[in-house]
Amino acid sequence: MPDPAPPAPPRAQPRTPPRAGAEAAPPDSLAPPPPAAAAPIAPAGGLARSVAILAATPLSALAGLSLAGALAPLPGLIGAAFCLSGAVLLACLWHGDLARLGARLRRPDAPAPRLAPAAALADDLARAQRDWQERAEQFARQARANETILERLPDPLLVLDEAQAVTRLNAAARRYFGAPGTDATAASAAAPADLPALLRQPGARAAIARALSENRPQRAELVLPVPVERHFALQVLPLDPPLADGGRVLLVVQDITAMHRTERMRADFVANASHELRTPLASLIGFIETLRGPAADDAKAQARFLGIMHEQAARMARLIDDLLSLSRIELTEHTQPTERVDLGRILRRAAESFEPRLAERRMTIAQDIAEAAPPVLGDADQLAQVFHNLIDNALKYGREGGTVRLSVQRLAAAPATAGRAGQRAGLQASIADDGPGIAREHLPRLTERFYRVDAARSRAAGGTGLGLAIVKHIVNRHRGQLAIASEEGNGTIVSLWLPEAPAEGSEAGAPTS
Ligand SMILES: Nc1ncnc2c1ncn2[C@@H]1O[C@H](COP(=O)(O)OP(=O)(O)OP(=O)(O)O)[C@@H](O)[C@H]1O
Ligand SMILES: [Mg+2]
Repeated sequence: MPDPAPPAPPRAQPRTPPRAGAEAAPPDSLAPPPPAAAAPIAPAGGLARSVAILAATPLSALAGLSLAGALAPLPGLIGAAFCLSGAVLLACLWHGDLARLGARLRRPDAPAPRLAPAAALADDLARAQRDWQERAEQFARQARANETILERLPDPLLVLDEAQAVTRLNAAARRYFGAPGTDATAASAAAPADLPALLRQPGARAAIARALSENRPQRAELVLPVPVERHFALQVLPLDPPLADGGRVLLVVQDITAMHRTERMRADFVANASHELRTPLASLIGFIETLRGPAADDAKAQARFLGIMHEQAARMARLIDDLLSLSRIELTEHTQPTERVDLGRILRRAAESFEPRLAERRMTIAQDIAEAAPPVLGDADQLAQVFHNLIDNALKYGREGGTVRLSVQRLAAAPATAGRAGQRAGLQASIADDGPGIAREHLPRLTERFYRVDAARSRAAGGTGLGLAIVKHIVNRHRGQLAIASEEGNGTIVSLWLPEAPAEGSEAGAPTS
């Protein structure tokens, strides 16, 4: 920038460089607009006004003295010329300083003003500008941090404007509902219509309208039936005053599907358990009434009824035993057993205990149990219960006259389904029958409590529908994996994989027995 110092006061010049400087600043620059102090520098009238103000007093004094005759005209004129040129010089210096001051505010490396008061002012302004810039950066950092927190919140968050149009949404919202016009992820792209569908629900619309009109937070529960039923709890928080971008309502959406499912399972469980107990109880009461009334003197009927009553009472006892053992297993499910046990031996013992029952259905048991298989960390009683339940199923639901095959093999790595076991070696035990098998659609639900493919047949066989649920929880406790494979007409294979016990003496596998 040219030095605007006297003698030539270039009136238009000082304005040009600052403007160029301002244009060169980046678009997101936080620098303030050029200060108003630079403005009066350029206009020609500005300099003339300054000269006039500076020269007015001495010139008037000289004129007064001349008129009063105290000063001769020539010395008066010479004095006036001196006054005028002094005023021009001073005005040029001031204006030059102001130009430098303006330039300094835009570019810190611009030359400093020459006059002491202007230099001090320039320093103060530069300091104020630095403070302002730091504060603006701090605000920007804070805003970015807030944005990141909102973006990372696990619950979907949406902002709607007065017209109930979505103006902002966080990553969880995009993931859950998909968002037209945003960088939708693969998951959100799969369900792009979910968000309008959710907001169109009468419950959601009513809650948003109420929040807007009453200016008070509202809650609603919503269900999205497709593609899979999902339940959401919606919190509607009015924003008053509205956000700078017009945001008027904040929606916090919480996925409560799992909670709903657990609640339903609990209710189903209570209903199922009471139903299972009520049926034999009703039959017992019925027989007792018959024995006290019509069959009071019928010894033959009494003997028959007492047999049935014994069976029903035994069924109730079995049901209660199974429920108790299930809750005991659940209580300890988080602690992995530490005993080193021989899985093959436990399976052989379990098979032996069924020998008396084989003749009933003319069935045979074939064993292919690896000798000297390494031990697993397990609870021998619980593993015996697993094999008991599985062989019991194979005998109950297998083919009459068929064969139940038992095997234990060592696998160098977990089967593909045992994702959580990774590359660990383990033992796989399987119980296979050649019965009618199980239809595909039932397979995923077999380990649910009280789930039975054919409830009447299971009940007739004395089943409670808890056997596989118990097996699943025991296998979970052993950090193992359970797989049920079946094909209608081709029998059923239930396999369980358990991780091998670590070498004796190593840290993870300190033997306890
Ligand atoms: N090997 C199998 N072949 C065919 N169906 C089976 C087999 N194992 C289990 N199922 C089916 O799975 C259902 C659930 O089995 P689960 O062992 O949990 O209960 P249950 O045998 O009915 O009763 P419980 O085992 O408590 O006496 C059974 O009712 C039966 O319909
Ligand atoms: Mg069973």
